[in-house]
Amino acid sequence: MKHIKLLAVAVMALCIGVSLNAKPKIRIIATGGTIAGVSTTSASSAYTAGQVGIQTLIDAVPQILQLADISGEQLVNIGSQDMNDEVWLKLAKRINVLLNEEGYDGVVITHGTDTMEETAYFLNLTVKSDKPVVLAGSMRPSNAISADGPANLYNAVAAAVSPACKGMGVLCCMNNQLLDAKTVIKTHTIDCDTFEGGPSGIIGYVYNGEAHMLQTPNNRHTVNSEFDVAKLDKLPRVGIVYGYANCSPLPMKAFVDANFDGIVLAGVGDGNFYKDVFDVAVGAQNSGIQIVRSSRCPTGPTCLNSEVDDAKYHFVAALDLNPQKARVLLMLALTKTHDWQEIQKYFMEY
Ligand code: DGL
Repeated sequence: MKHIKLLAVAVMALCIGVSLNAKPKIRIIATGGTIAGVSTTSASSAYTAGQVGIQTLIDAVPQILQLADISGEQLVNIGSQDMNDEVWLKLAKRINVLLNEEGYDGVVITHGTDTMEETAYFLNLTVKSDKPVVLAGSMRPSNAISADGPANLYNAVAAAVSPACKGMGVLCCMNNQLLDAKTVIKTHTIDCDTFEGGPSGIIGYVYNGEAHMLQTPNNRHTVNSEFDVAKLDKLPRVGIVYGYANCSPLPMKAFVDANFDGIVLAGVGDGNFYKDVFDVAVGAQNSGIQIVRSSRCPTGPTCLNSEVDDAKYHFVAALDLNPQKARVLLMLALTKTHDWQEIQKYFMEY
């Protein structure tokens, strides 16, 4: 009997020892992008995104194995200019299973930078966990001189294992910086330092394999989001119309004729329409297509009831969301309601 007790104590101590030394379980989901891109020569800027598979990306950064118990899966292998609703829905559902059913402690997503900000915001509204979800990409292909992908992947894993990143919503990790999903924006076509965090700046940074947070998001996200894609197999159709002097109303008319569910205006200034486009927008709203006013200006809010009487026309003002993110929120809002005042509340909260 005494030996059995001693054996039980030894087994328990072993289990506790193993669990205390166990590394966080991190899943890396690959979707393509320049981080998986290959250039014709290491010095060439000519390259093709989405060429290299997830295991090659992981093998290129063996140091991540010191940070976490790493495993990977390839969802798609595309340039993110080809990102679409189908991949978004698969990605959000897969992340929720990994974090809520398969016991993973965090997820890293390798992704192209062109639409990374949109995917990050979509996941910010649909991931049902406060565990870290971190997107990483690169501006130079995998075989370029001074490729930036391996360091970005290492830093993203460092953030994903960091308790400081829990409850921060979905993050992007590029160039040693951590950016939150709502404010992250790609600002430069070729620079490695392309991502910025809008007026509030970056949310944190990763240095020497450690994540350091500088601020916390003040908008609803992840576990505090009421949007749920679990039962959705498609998303409402929302288009974006770009505004400019003497703007043609044809693009907005085309969305109306195609029975889109919503239209976002990337308007001039504080989300203003050209007069001919305004007339089409009023007709669209009256026919049940929700109009959201955003702005082509890179910074500054699109304000409610400013030069446009939103209350009169039942338009929604995008407030702090740029056109591409206003589109994401409008798509998800339309899965819950078509009431313009309810939708405006979502733009105030998310
Ligand atoms: N094709 C672009 C994309 O996949 C390249 C940009 C990048 O990933 O840095 O987003």
